[in-house]
Amino acid sequence: MANESRVVDIPRVKLDLAGTDHHAEGNRLRSAGPVLQIELPDGIVGWAITRQDLLAELLADADNVLSKDLSHWSAQLPEGWPLTGMVKVTNMVTADGLDHRRLRRTVTSFLTPQRVKSIQPCIAALVHDLLDDLPQHLGAEGTVDLSAYLFSPLPLSVICELVGVPEAYCQRIRKLVDSIFNHTADAQEVVTTQESIVALMEGLVNFRRAHPGDDLTTHLISERDRGVITDTELSDTMWLMVSAGYETTRSLLVNGTRALLTHPDQRAMAVGGDAAAWAAVVEETLRWDSPVANFLARYALKDIIVAGVTIPAGEAIIAPYSAVGRDAACHGADADRFDVSRTTRHMSFGAGPHACLGSHLARLQATTALPALFARYPHLALAVEESDLSPIPSAISNSVLQLPVKLDARRPQRQPSGGAGA
Ligand code: HEM
Repeated sequence: MANESRVVDIPRVKLDLAGTDHHAEGNRLRSAGPVLQIELPDGIVGWAITRQDLLAELLADADNVLSKDLSHWSAQLPEGWPLTGMVKVTNMVTADGLDHRRLRRTVTSFLTPQRVKSIQPCIAALVHDLLDDLPQHLGAEGTVDLSAYLFSPLPLSVICELVGVPEAYCQRIRKLVDSIFNHTADAQEVVTTQESIVALMEGLVNFRRAHPGDDLTTHLISERDRGVITDTELSDTMWLMVSAGYETTRSLLVNGTRALLTHPDQRAMAVGGDAAAWAAVVEETLRWDSPVANFLARYALKDIIVAGVTIPAGEAIIAPYSAVGRDAACHGADADRFDVSRTTRHMSFGAGPHACLGSHLARLQATTALPALFARYPHLALAVEESDLSPIPSAISNSVLQLPVKLDARRPQRQPSGGAGA
């Protein structure tokens, strides 16, 4: 980065592991300045860049000053550290350079844009069936949780089908993903979750060895047998794909629906618009209510100067995607406002060599499910006050646990109020 270093007091903000309010946290981070220190669990300290342009430049890593390999972090992580699942894995997320390209190619050679495009009819059919079934899940109060009966099953089924996870395993995957993103879990739970993931992935590899198919696991097994990847890389890549593929997309679907239900003017623009209007809803949701609030970690290979502040070699850098999504310097003075006509570019899929490789699949699911939901249930409304929604207890994942709605709000109900921090 271009600036000269100067001696400054570095502000420090503690990361909220319970994810109580990622946008309030984003405000705190931005208010602290473009570069600050973040206090992680057990007093471990990292750094964050809160200006989108600076973060994008850093993540592009033109000078090769960053690594994603944990061995470059000077911190000692205790056993059962709550964010272990983010940093102690052996797949493309923690690989650099040639190793990163090798691991990423094993997935991109299977999950091609053509393959994603070709499953659109299957996604549409699945959405159709899930929408049909929603009335069956209405509770005594006439409400249904869209997360449980639409927005979780959709991305879970889609990613399990692509990866080759048999249906019987899908719910175990969902529970483990929920556990890994729960950062209020104690050390023993963290260790148990890690062990369960390893056991489940090994079981899946064994199953697919015996029952090969047209799926990512079968593809990765053949890469393993050709000596391209190791056994650990195989199972950690499968875990990465099912966890990243399910959780983030669920959050995008929940956050987009919540935003429309609490912004009637924006909803009217989407419902009255065409495919481009729905694509704009998805992009604005990604910016305004980023499914990934924060992402760990990159490590400085040498002293890096950002906005005049030196991040010393060996320290960790966290990408605060929620905070930069509402960076006024990038998105304007009204960055806190949900506005589907906005044209600024967000970076909620990351940037640089590690940018998300599933963005086309996530966008496809969201642009298929959201218009179908609002067309099928034109009188859809939130069934509780927005302030009663419970956040996912996570420093990384930004969404709510349930999204209870009335499918037909013409029946008497309480009115929702406000917007997500806007
Ligand atoms: C709305 C949905 C999604 C969001 C917001 C999202 C966000 C992100 C972000 C921010 C990163 C980069 C993190 C960093 O290095 O700082 C990332 C990486 C990644 N994502 Fe996604 N993602 C989504 C959906 C998906 C899906 C559906 C898949 C799988 C099909 C996927 C697979 C991956 C993988 C494998 C990486 C690691 C790439 C690498 O390290 O080279 N993501 N994602």
